[in-house]
Amino acid sequence: MRSTLGWQAGRAGTPLRRTSLERRELRADDVAVRVDYCGVCHSDLHAVDAHTGAAPLVPGHEFTGVVTDVGPEVTRFAAGDPVAVGNIVDSCGVCAMCRAGQENFCHEFPTLTYAGTDRHDGTTTLGGYSREYVVRDEFAYPLPAGLDPAAAAPLLCAGITVWEPLRALGVGPGTRVAVAGLGGLGHLAVKFAVALGADTTVISRSAGKAGDARRLGGHDLIASTDEHRMTAARDRFDVVIDTIAVPHDVAPYLRLVALDGTLSHLGHLGPVTVQAADLLVGRKKLSSAGSGGRPATAAMLEFCARHNVTADVEVLPSARVNEALERLERNDVRYRFVLDMSDLPQNH
Ligand SMILES: NC(=O)c1ccc[n+]([C@@H]2O[C@H](COP(=O)([O-])OP(=O)(O)OC[C@H]3O[C@@H](n4cnc5c(N)ncnc54)[C@H](OP(=O)(O)O)[C@@H]3O)[C@@H](O)[C@H]2O)c1
Ligand SMILES: [Zn+2]
Ligand SMILES: [Zn+2]
Repeated sequence: MRSTLGWQAGRAGTPLRRTSLERRELRADDVAVRVDYCGVCHSDLHAVDAHTGAAPLVPGHEFTGVVTDVGPEVTRFAAGDPVAVGNIVDSCGVCAMCRAGQENFCHEFPTLTYAGTDRHDGTTTLGGYSREYVVRDEFAYPLPAGLDPAAAAPLLCAGITVWEPLRALGVGPGTRVAVAGLGGLGHLAVKFAVALGADTTVISRSAGKAGDARRLGGHDLIASTDEHRMTAARDRFDVVIDTIAVPHDVAPYLRLVALDGTLSHLGHLGPVTVQAADLLVGRKKLSSAGSGGRPATAAMLEFCARHNVTADVEVLPSARVNEALERLERNDVRYRFVLDMSDLPQNH
């Protein structure tokens, strides 16, 4: 086994602790990655809050770093290559979804980067809040030159999660898009929609984010608490991307969807109650998405390099991980924390 350092959750409510972790020896198709930057996703917060302690939890599923070692069958990477890794690290490779390049929907369930189960040895996967990660080469992506590695890390979860539905829903010039919730996912949804040529509006609880919405390229911000404006925006958007991180009523957001338009519910992934009449009137569609397949992830990174899209990040030393989680909980970040892992020695 290879030994590294990382940040492990204790019981819910207790701070993450710096711990020594074991990584597997490289399989033939593995690469070892020195993790340099790992984004802090709201899903990490959900996982830490729900943690029972039954299995070890090291969060982190959007990171960038450098390849340090490769298994004998790896041809795509060599030591020294900059790479990015997201929230899926393996899949069956043979089911219809995998063959269609939608490994995120693998019939055997993709192996998640943390709190997943390794397909070969049955161990619980430990995430990117650590100095080293060992990953199957197919699930590492070359990080395009020109993308800042800290600001690019959040593309691998927040980015791809909004990219796939925007592309699948055909968002392009002239599409009217609304993004509900201006956080990690939301601000990247705005940047992507704008770069794709869509007419993009933010729906937020916080009217104070209007300046940011415009700076990100949005045309407008509607405060979700402003009943007058919410009513006036009825049937206005072809696509509504809902990234709100808490359980909420989707009816006010469905009302904003145009005839034959779609609400893509990407945020809090619990049960959703919908009145059929809210879909019936206007033939509206309710959809969801999560993560992305390998082809879409590679295409997104290429798009980001071409259009110079990365996240707006606040970089903190990894030792301040608990502060990052606590501030994320309070919605006190614009718009993604990224942990700088260089405070964890590589060979400890
Ligand atoms: N589908 C997937 O595969 C996938 C992938 C990653 C994350 N997620 C989930 O997506 C959600 C967003 O993640 P994130 O990392 O973008 O989180 P985030 O940075 O915290 O952003 C979430 C946004 O939701 C809004 N919000 C938060 N609390 C709210 C409340 N009480 N009422 C109404 N709005 C509230 C806020 O926007 P305003 O201040 O603008 O209102 C906030 O900025 C999380 O639940 C996360 O677990 C899903
Ligand atoms: Zn995530
Ligand atoms: Zn599969």
